[in-house]
Amino acid sequence: MSATEQISIRVEPTQNSRLSQVDFNNLKFGQIMSDHMLVAEYSNGRWEDISIVPYGDLTMSPSMSALHYGQAIFEGIKAYKFEDGTVSVFRADKNWERFNKSAHRLQMPEVPQEIFLDGLKQLLDIDRNWIPSKEGTSLYIRPFMYATESALGVHPSISYKFIIITCPVGAYYSKPISLKVETHYTRAAEGGVGFSKNAGNYALSLYPTQLANDEGYDQIMWTDALEHKYIEEAGTANLIFRIGDTIITPHGDTILHGVTRRTIMELAEKWGFQAEQRRVSVQELIDGIKDGKVTEAFAAGTAATITHIDRIGFEGQDYQLPPIEGRDFSNKVLSYLNDLRYGKIEDPYGWNILVK
Ligand code: COI
Repeated sequence: MSATEQISIRVEPTQNSRLSQVDFNNLKFGQIMSDHMLVAEYSNGRWEDISIVPYGDLTMSPSMSALHYGQAIFEGIKAYKFEDGTVSVFRADKNWERFNKSAHRLQMPEVPQEIFLDGLKQLLDIDRNWIPSKEGTSLYIRPFMYATESALGVHPSISYKFIIITCPVGAYYSKPISLKVETHYTRAAEGGVGFSKNAGNYALSLYPTQLANDEGYDQIMWTDALEHKYIEEAGTANLIFRIGDTIITPHGDTILHGVTRRTIMELAEKWGFQAEQRRVSVQELIDGIKDGKVTEAFAAGTAATITHIDRIGFEGQDYQLPPIEGRDFSNKVLSYLNDLRYGKIEDPYGWNILVK
């Protein structure tokens, strides 16, 4: 379909809702999927067969190219429910733009707004009862696309599937996290795919993360591929620091350009902080912790929201960050974003996309 074509979505409602089995007071991240999913097929240069169907298993050819060569991308978005029942999805337009940037880099077709955003709204409307409303909970949305051509030659697939699944979630990290500065393994290099949200970026993180876990750290602080001197991101989230009165986040195309990161940096600027996207060396961070200039450090992402960092390990030494209670900026952002996302305050920036 072209961008101007009207989207027609076939809807097949479930006959067996699983909603009553969900304990909304005890939500884990990403374990129970909502009743429906949106599915669209791409072949012969066009998107077709767009449908909302009961969540369920997929069939695939063992020679399907995504399984072999990794043409697979995804997004993470959250929907919220206001006290009056209004359903809102946070800045999904930015995720749609990023999704298509990932698609372009992996030689995959773009997904039109009518399928990604309008289709998502329709899916949310159908599964609106799955959206929790308690503070700290939300409906996590996982759009993804993978190559479906059955062929073992290395070339861009001629066919793809785009799917959106959703699940009610609580916190991804339920407490502050510790990070190990990684100075051996590499997540991304200049010219690579670090900015894209492709499955391989997560697969490659698993082994080094396990090594960090074995040493007692929750996650890795990735550094640049060339010198391992400059901070990049945490893999499951971006990183933001407060050094003096400046809010700083690493920049460049070796990191994911997070929607939460962007939101926080925009707020920092509006609230009168100096907000900088620039290179941050590990040494600058360690020196700043030692002399008390680094007062806040946190991971920022859709799943992670804002997760405070309490300890950083570098070259065998641990550096403790200041107490969470005194972290004015990140605590203020977290409570402001909660209020905005749950519709408790006005949304002056138009970040809440309302569903019907
Ligand atoms: C997200 O924040 O939505 C992500 O995709 C991170 C993922 C590792 C849970």
